[in-house]
Amino acid sequence: MQIVHSIAQLRAALAGQANTAFVPTMGNLHEGHLSLIKLARARGGPVVASIFVNRLQFAPHEDFDTYPRTLERDCQLLAPAGCDIVFAPSEKDLYPEPQGYKVHPPAELADILEGHFRPGFFTGVCTVVLKLFNAVQPKVAVFGKKDYQQLMVIRRMVDQLALPITIVGGETGRAPDGLALSSRNGYLDAAQRAEAVQLSAALRRIEAATSAGERDWTKLEVEAMNTLIARGWAPDYVAIRRRRDLGAPCEGEPLVVLAAAKLGTTRLIDNLELG
Ligand code: PAF
Repeated sequence: MQIVHSIAQLRAALAGQANTAFVPTMGNLHEGHLSLIKLARARGGPVVASIFVNRLQFAPHEDFDTYPRTLERDCQLLAPAGCDIVFAPSEKDLYPEPQGYKVHPPAELADILEGHFRPGFFTGVCTVVLKLFNAVQPKVAVFGKKDYQQLMVIRRMVDQLALPITIVGGETGRAPDGLALSSRNGYLDAAQRAEAVQLSAALRRIEAATSAGERDWTKLEVEAMNTLIARGWAPDYVAIRRRRDLGAPCEGEPLVVLAAAKLGTTRLIDNLELG
């Protein structure tokens, strides 16, 4: 496995390759990321993983400075998982000058849910992902479904900008108790880690209720929020939405429930496709 730090080195390493599969990450990898690498591996071409903590997608009060940078350990995990090239640019490599040109995704998709609570987040994500796509020029790119809205925003960007890239969504990796795997789980202390499973449990209760015929979406959302609050969480949202565009739910449409909540200072997100 090769580790490269600049776009020039990356292009040299990929010269002549037309079948690259790409997994963008911010590092601090876990089994969930490795399952995305395996999906990329299955496409047959060379596999590139990027590791870059993207300042543009963090608000000033968020965890950009403390986000774990664990390049050596990440590389030890990536090699046996089937990664061929790790692209780990420094900020200077990727943003040699202030990034004046940015991708602003449409408000109806990017200013709701995560975008409402993290203004500018999806502009930061789309800008870096487009730049990474231009650097890697992949045929396929793999994103986790845990970041459900992010996956949808990226798919739309690729469609609307006619990028010749197939976007593949990888299933959310979960711990045995159901907690969605996330780099931020490492911030939890032992008591919080035991409690953290309650987020996915709340989503599973909503799934059980809708499978049993409940159609009062607001009641289900409010009940889930209240249960989390009573347990000491600070939820941003629990929202049942249409899968196709994250719009308001309606009978007969495939739905998904998405949630974000803080436990102590750690903000966790999760989602579950219903039915
Ligand atoms: O999901 C992530 O880890 C990041 O948002 C991404 C896609 C690597 C862009 O920085």
